[in-house]
Amino acid sequence: MLVHLIEERQSVIGDLETSIRAALADVTGAYSICVVSDLEPDVIYCAKTASPLIIGLGEKENFVASDIPAVMRYTRRVLVLEDGDFAKITAGCVQLSTLSGQKIEREVYPVTWDISTAEKGGYPHFMLKEIHEQPQTITDTLRGRITDDFKVTLPELRFQTSKLLSFNRITVVACGTAYHAGMVGKSFYEHLLRRPVDVQVASEFRYSDPLVDSKTLVIIISQSGETADTLAALREAKLKGATTLAIVNVVGSSIAREADEVLYTYAGPEICVASTKAYMTMLIVLYLFGLYIAQEENRMSADIVAAYIADLTEIPRKMAAYLKDTSALQELSYKLATTSSCFFFLGRGVDYAVSMEGALKMKEISYIHAEAYPAGELKHGPLALVEAGVTVICLATQSALYDKMLSNVKEVKAREGIAVAVVKENDAGLDDRTVDAVINTPATDHDVLMPLLSVVPLQLLAYYIASALGRDIDQPRNLAKSVTVE
Ligand code: M6R
Repeated sequence: MLVHLIEERQSVIGDLETSIRAALADVTGAYSICVVSDLEPDVIYCAKTASPLIIGLGEKENFVASDIPAVMRYTRRVLVLEDGDFAKITAGCVQLSTLSGQKIEREVYPVTWDISTAEKGGYPHFMLKEIHEQPQTITDTLRGRITDDFKVTLPELRFQTSKLLSFNRITVVACGTAYHAGMVGKSFYEHLLRRPVDVQVASEFRYSDPLVDSKTLVIIISQSGETADTLAALREAKLKGATTLAIVNVVGSSIAREADEVLYTYAGPEICVASTKAYMTMLIVLYLFGLYIAQEENRMSADIVAAYIADLTEIPRKMAAYLKDTSALQELSYKLATTSSCFFFLGRGVDYAVSMEGALKMKEISYIHAEAYPAGELKHGPLALVEAGVTVICLATQSALYDKMLSNVKEVKAREGIAVAVVKENDAGLDDRTVDAVINTPATDHDVLMPLLSVVPLQLLAYYIASALGRDIDQPRNLAKSVTVE
């Protein structure tokens, strides 16, 4: 359609560039386009609104793509176009202007990611590679944000401390996996800061006339920084006078640019549609930011904050050790791939937040129905579905709630469901009379940090099952990496 519109304008106006501008002036909605024509064979015209578009700047060559990894093999200098931008690109020159023709300039972003992180590097799928990259991404995300005496420092924040402490409400807004990261953040902040935190799905938030104002800090979480609903939610929050803080992976993305404050995750390029390492680094930033507030408002002693941080810095080593041998989990997954007709993921407290992510990973790449429930809700409905062939993954990593989870396990076993417990290593409370299988994860000193470790076997479980079923793991059917339309 758009091409025909341009052609139509061109037949009247003559000049190609003016015709493209005229055509775009008459269209609405989301687009990012490149126009090539034999009228000007050495030129690419491009423009964007709502959908992402980047230009890679090379030596006597330039590139256009929707995302940075596509051009990383050729250049490390990138221009990120903003809504309403128009570009005329030749091998030697990039001219930027507004749609109406006014000259503009955009900052050139240096890409610091390693090229190998945008390639498979010997792994059969990006997803497995990205799961294995998680220890390194945690280290990268912590780097420069922890002092030698184990305090949190977030130099990129421009907040005055007084402003940071003035918010009486925190609202987290995101979609999908990023929303699940927000759910972990809620548990942590409420536990640590004793402040109410609500977490909302962006597509609901934007149309709900949200209850936010100048006393609210709205934390927007997004890997891509381009998710249409999340971006619209950010704009809505700003309109209502809230202060916005974005936790984003892609540098220079729309959400990063528009939020009042940005804390980047350093996951590097995440290629697999199913998010793993981005989720991991979102958790790290959420934990750091919570500890930062606690520290700045003197809510807890320096020793307590330092103990959390010490625990955080141990995670990469523990995770890397765990990832060295996952053969037992692989074997279990292959069995479950043939015996499970559907999955429930149960947990309490922060384990419930992780269950949500486990269920999403499972359904997204294995195409097996999977649902997360707060474990206490089992009796209030879903138990009716438990029978042979239904696998129930019970997360029991929270010491205070462990016995409660054991009683859920028994309920599942009594209905002939397949009960699989996810527990901290050295757990002696379970054997094959109580459960069908046990998945051990490394432990942390603070239970509230367990999501960082307990999510890894859930990611792998989904991966191995999807692999056994021959699914298209990196590009699951019907899904896109960046959801830039509503
Ligand atoms: O780029 P974003 O973090 O904003 O994306 C949000 C969701 O679309 C994303 O997390 C999606 O749920 C993933 N495919 C889950 O693995």
